[in-house]
Amino acid sequence: MPSAAPAVPGASSRPIARLADRLVSQIAAGEVVERPASVVRELLENALDAGAVRIRLRIEEGGVRRIVVADDGCGIERAQLALALERHATSKIASLDELERVGTLGFRGEALASIASVARLRLTSRTSGDDCAWRIDADTGEVEPAPGARGTQVEVLDLFSATPARRKFLRSAATESAHCVDAFRRIALAHESVAFEMQLDDRRTETLEPADWTRRALAALGDEYENAHRIVDVDAGVLRLRAVLGLPTHNRARADRQFLYVNGRFVRDRMLGYALRQAYADLMHGDRHAAWAVFVSIDPSQIDVNVHPAKIEVRFRDPAGVRSFVFHAIESALRASASERAHEALPAAAAARGMHVQAYPVPDSPTTASLDFAREPHAAMYPPVAPSPLAATSPAAPARSAAAFPAPASAGAATPATDDAPLGHALAQLHGTWVLAQNRHGLVVVDMHAAHERVVYERMKTAYARRSIPVQPLLVPVVFRADALDVALVDDEGEAIAALGLELSALSVQSIAVRAVPAALTGADAEALARSVLAELREHGASRALAERSDALLATMACHASVRANRRLTIEEMDALLREMERTPAADQCNHGRPTWLQVPLDELDRWFLRGR
Ligand SMILES: Nc1ncnc2c1ncn2[C@@H]1O[C@H](COP(=O)(O)OP(=O)(O)OP(=O)(O)O)[C@@H](O)[C@H]1O
Ligand SMILES: [Mg+2]
Repeated sequence: MPSAAPAVPGASSRPIARLADRLVSQIAAGEVVERPASVVRELLENALDAGAVRIRLRIEEGGVRRIVVADDGCGIERAQLALALERHATSKIASLDELERVGTLGFRGEALASIASVARLRLTSRTSGDDCAWRIDADTGEVEPAPGARGTQVEVLDLFSATPARRKFLRSAATESAHCVDAFRRIALAHESVAFEMQLDDRRTETLEPADWTRRALAALGDEYENAHRIVDVDAGVLRLRAVLGLPTHNRARADRQFLYVNGRFVRDRMLGYALRQAYADLMHGDRHAAWAVFVSIDPSQIDVNVHPAKIEVRFRDPAGVRSFVFHAIESALRASASERAHEALPAAAAARGMHVQAYPVPDSPTTASLDFAREPHAAMYPPVAPSPLAATSPAAPARSAAAFPAPASAGAATPATDDAPLGHALAQLHGTWVLAQNRHGLVVVDMHAAHERVVYERMKTAYARRSIPVQPLLVPVVFRADALDVALVDDEGEAIAALGLELSALSVQSIAVRAVPAALTGADAEALARSVLAELREHGASRALAERSDALLATMACHASVRANRRLTIEEMDALLREMERTPAADQCNHGRPTWLQVPLDELDRWFLRGR
């Protein structure tokens, strides 16, 4: 075992001394340069601030080995090159007053100095007045003539090589590359009039020519939104909102396609994030996420950009005003779309039932529609037994939900020993969704999807606790395209994922193979299953997801088991489901908290028909 470095002596045993400049920079750099993607972001922002119309990015070995950003912007004069690398040196603001209405992305004069303190940096630049370009080496401070057209090129080499502690925190090159690509795309998304080119090692390039803002946004949201989006463009003078909104029907397991910009700066903002969530809330299940790109442009004096070391947050002078403006603009755009096209009302209803809408084909066939609407008057006439799906979960609902009855296990105990089947015996299947059964008390109605999901979930939970989820190898592996972060995740966490009964392997930098699925999920869509597990692992961090959130993960997986596709069940299969529900702990609620079955007592049936009055 390597011996640990001796601990630094306590504060009292040393006199106070000023830190060396370089160390000060290295400490400050911690806030600016967290990983290679931070360098990419800072350099791209500098290029944009310089007025570039074409920007090229090159990333090698995850950006750790080399990052180059070249632009055709205004350039830096030879005499200013050294200053550009100094801390607190900037051309972007000169006073507090200017800070309060800063319109550029940079303003601290920190980025280049920070990068130079944790990497080797070379800056080459040429202004329109220069005869040639000039290059400065940040280590030596030497300036020499260099070839090059107007503009600036910054080359960053061997990031963190002098600060091994930082380097240790980096992930695999593939993961770091993926973060760099993310940073690149985020910035490109908001600057549609600028051309961007990216080269990753020698493999892959991405070129974005200047385009309309909606085109850029759609490219980032993904192909599936090409015909499933709404555009918002509202200008209220001090505040302008432009947005490309993915339709609520095209919701996602993960909030991975949400891009929020304030004055061209990618930000995270809880308040606006919440406003957006609220705007979608009625149209989408709460566990799901919408895809959107939202651009807020606001008079710079109305925000404070100097609130976060990485400039990832802003503060609004009038947060309530901005929130309300954004909420109403987005909500009305989404509502307009829902009423414009009748078929969108249906997925919305399904979403209210807690189902994952995109798992269904777009239900625009008239048969489906009439079927669903036919239920509504029924629900209104007989609220106690055929509650609307929402009523069933609302506490005020008069429905005799399963919760009002003893759980199946205890129901067995409470009834005479002869009642060997508390949930009764199957009679029929209704509309491919409900199992009708008869028990001692009357009629039992089972939501077979929800019930099956619950049963599978409990089965997997027990097996996972014993570390023995039975797996079903796939004869032909299912291969799908994935982004680099997912591929890296499979590389890094393949073994842990296998403990879930899911065998994944990386086939290439862009594809993953599913080789086995949990036996309980045989027949499930293997790709969708793998994608949703990877999504959870990414969202919560793999180790945390597997340790603390294994139940949630297994629940997600169980979702894929439900007998979704309107399958006809035989009476034997239905009975088997009922028996399994009786054996399953907490089987009377599905994983989303909805009841899985309802009891309709005989006296209730009597009441419907006014018998005995
Ligand atoms: N690509 C570029 N083209 C022209 N000038 C540049 C470029 N990159 C940097 N500069 C000049 O160097 C200065 C320092 O850049 P640096 O990124 O360190 O600070 P900043 O952009 O002013 O502020 P911040 O730390 O917030 O990014 C800038 O103010 C700008 O004048
Ligand atoms: Mg900068």
